Amino acid sequence: MNIKEYLNEMKALVDNALDRHIPSNNTYPPDIYNSMRYSLFAGGKRLRPILVIASAETVGGKREAVLPFACAIEMIHTYTLIHDDLPAIDNDDFRRGKPTNHKEFGEAIAILAGDALLTMAFQIMSDTRLMPHTNPSVILRAINEIANAVGVFGTIGGQVVDIQSTGKNLDIPTLEYIHTHKTGEMILSAVRAGAILSGCEDDELNALTRYAENIGLAFQVMDDILDVEGESEVMGKTAGSDERMKKITYPAVFGLAESKKIAGRLIDSSIKSLEMFGDRAEVLKDISEYIIARKF
Ligand code: IPE
Ligand code: IPE
Ligand code: MG
Ligand code: MG
Ligand code: MG
Repeated sequence: MNIKEYLNEMKALVDNALDRHIPSNNTYPPDIYNSMRYSLFAGGKRLRPILVIASAETVGGKREAVLPFACAIEMIHTYTLIHDDLPAIDNDDFRRGKPTNHKEFGEAIAILAGDALLTMAFQIMSDTRLMPHTNPSVILRAINEIANAVGVFGTIGGQVVDIQSTGKNLDIPTLEYIHTHKTGEMILSAVRAGAILSGCEDDELNALTRYAENIGLAFQVMDDILDVEGESEVMGKTAGSDERMKKITYPAVFGLAESKKIAGRLIDSSIKSLEMFGDRAEVLKDISEYIIARKF
């Protein structure tokens, strides 16, 4: 199977499972379900849930066994997007090809939809009945990975420094902190959780950690590059947002050409980290290459 087919198949698997987890729009109170579903099913590459699955399969795990975590991480990611777009943060009007959640439902419901998606993720990950073949202590360890990554030690810390650095002098340590925290940590936790839930060995987890640290940073460097030279219609979000908001980004600090080289080097390192897996890591390797080739 080529990578495009794999990504499409996994995206369909995740989309179906997500649909089963979120109550329908007729559920009371309908506005919140409408709003959650609006952003969750607006599109989106499903990269993080696919990484949970691909990482699990690389170490011999089963996709069905990690599907609840795959869904949970996409809910968490979608919550971060809804809140990231709010007027108080990036003030963006388009996301996943549609008006942002707060443009459609108002700020109050958008904030609450984000809160609800984040909370529902933990409800799903802690529902051991959904993972009858996985030892609850392993599930607990995986939840802890995700909680660490998306809380103040990861995503939130990164987002705080991102907004507080707006318009300030561009310095490289701060830039790296922002990118590895606001984006890298969640990607890292997706890869690690998939492997942990599948009972991986320590040396496998170490290798996957190196892999994910590299793709995590590369992913945000590419996101910055696309913000400069991508097309809004293709990306489903407004290009030029970073410059408008005076964000610290890789292109702002290093320029476009150097940023592309940095992303390329990170992707090379990620692929190197997979050596011990041989052919078993074909999908993860292809995902690395997809990250720098992508146009959205
Ligand atoms: C956008 O993430 C936010 C970043 C961390 C850069 P994605 O580019 O994965 O967005 P979707 O999920 O495909 O919409
Ligand atoms: C997003 O970074 C990181 C999040 C935690 C959502 P950006 O602000 O660059 O993401 P986009 O470009 O709006 O998707
Ligand atoms: Mg942002
Ligand atoms: Mg943003
Ligand atoms: Mg961006």
